[in-house]
Amino acid sequence: MNFPISGTKGNAQLEMNNLILVTGGAGFIGSNFVLKMIQDAGSTIVNLDKLTYAGNLRNLESVSENRRYSFVQGDIIDRDLVRSLFEKSQPSAIVHFAAESHVDRSIHGPDEFIRTNINGTFALLEEARAYWSGLSTTEREKFRFLHVSTDEVYGSLAPNDPAFTENTPYAPNSPYSASKAASDHLVRAYHHTYGLPTLTTNCSNNYGRFQFPEKLIPLMILNARDGKSLPVYGDGQNVRDWLYVEDHCDAISLVLSGGRPGETYNIGGWNEKRNLDIVKTICGIVDEMAPPIGRPRSELITFVKDRPGHDRRYAMDARKIERELGWKPKETFESGIRKTVRWYLENEGWVREVTSGSYRNWIATHYSA
Ligand code: NAD
Ligand code: DAU
Repeated sequence: MNFPISGTKGNAQLEMNNLILVTGGAGFIGSNFVLKMIQDAGSTIVNLDKLTYAGNLRNLESVSENRRYSFVQGDIIDRDLVRSLFEKSQPSAIVHFAAESHVDRSIHGPDEFIRTNINGTFALLEEARAYWSGLSTTEREKFRFLHVSTDEVYGSLAPNDPAFTENTPYAPNSPYSASKAASDHLVRAYHHTYGLPTLTTNCSNNYGRFQFPEKLIPLMILNARDGKSLPVYGDGQNVRDWLYVEDHCDAISLVLSGGRPGETYNIGGWNEKRNLDIVKTICGIVDEMAPPIGRPRSELITFVKDRPGHDRRYAMDARKIERELGWKPKETFESGIRKTVRWYLENEGWVREVTSGSYRNWIATHYSA
């Protein structure tokens, strides 16, 4: 259902407390969140998404006709549009996923990262502040601005360093993480200065259905399926802390309902893995689930030029969200990765659609150097 931006307010004019304005809800994590909130939590959602290369309405087909879901194609930086959405939908919360999210793309061309992640977040904050200021006292207390961010703002860990906590100083190393750090600081300042009831979540690497196959796990699954080379950066010993996307969505939902305004919450899977081990695991599962290619897929692994400024290790200390809100990941890596490989092998239509045109140009440009 398309949200009526002008003219009559339509059936999406709902009372505050019932409606969440989601940005970037057609992307990987956003679409998993929208589906979960509509199907499991009975929420009403207005999804504002620009539909960049990473946004895909096919992810949301199962709710597209649901009367509790509406979609608006637009840019978060468009303040007139954002203002009219606040006015017409009267949300009780905004959950902000929209971002440029791929580190390698930020190295090739940072402009869009600065524009969307920093200026776009600023536009949302300004319009949220104006809307929130006009609410009644009770409604102002209930309103939440939840900003979805990343562990990458904390920089890189040495092998024996303790995991990042909410008090670890920011030290972003890529244009992507620097743009997310800047947006986190803006969110913090809007709480501190204006009292806007913000929440920030900083999460580790997600995996699961709908992830665009420029990212490590879906790229490796599809290349392994097709018998193509598996490009591991550097020595493959970089460590990431992996979390199944549905666990992340559960955590966001809990922070939204129970998090303390002005606080940040680290979210992670307690699941540190070296990239090379991840790729070998994927090879084994694809060998088992897909037609054979005449040799073990691990033989497709190729070490390629490292990512400039490549962070060596991330690890999240997620004890605060566990202590305060009772959140813990449900999925183990072993079960989550099998579900994920199966999903990509069984959803050829989705894969074909997202790997056409501009995707092929990205792969050709990025991996040719
Ligand atoms: P994604 O790239 O899959 O999706 C981003 C979505 O935002 C797309 O639907 C895109 O169309 C939309 N978008 C981009 N620019 C926009 C704009 N200017 N206006 C409106 N919509 C716009 O990203 P993702 O992996 O789902 O990440 C979502 C959020 O979570 C991001 O803020 C990211 O920084 C954060 N995050 C991601 C991970 C991860 O592992 N993927 C981990 C931690 C945090
Ligand atoms: O940590 C959270 C972050 O995780 C999110 O904020 C980002 O939005 C998300 O993209 C992700 O960033 P990473 O850079 O960690 O993810 P990516 O999948 O691009 O890479 C994971 C690791 O795998 C990283 O060490 C680089 C490596 N890699 C990646 C690709 C695409 C390879 O070795 N080969 C590849 O082809």
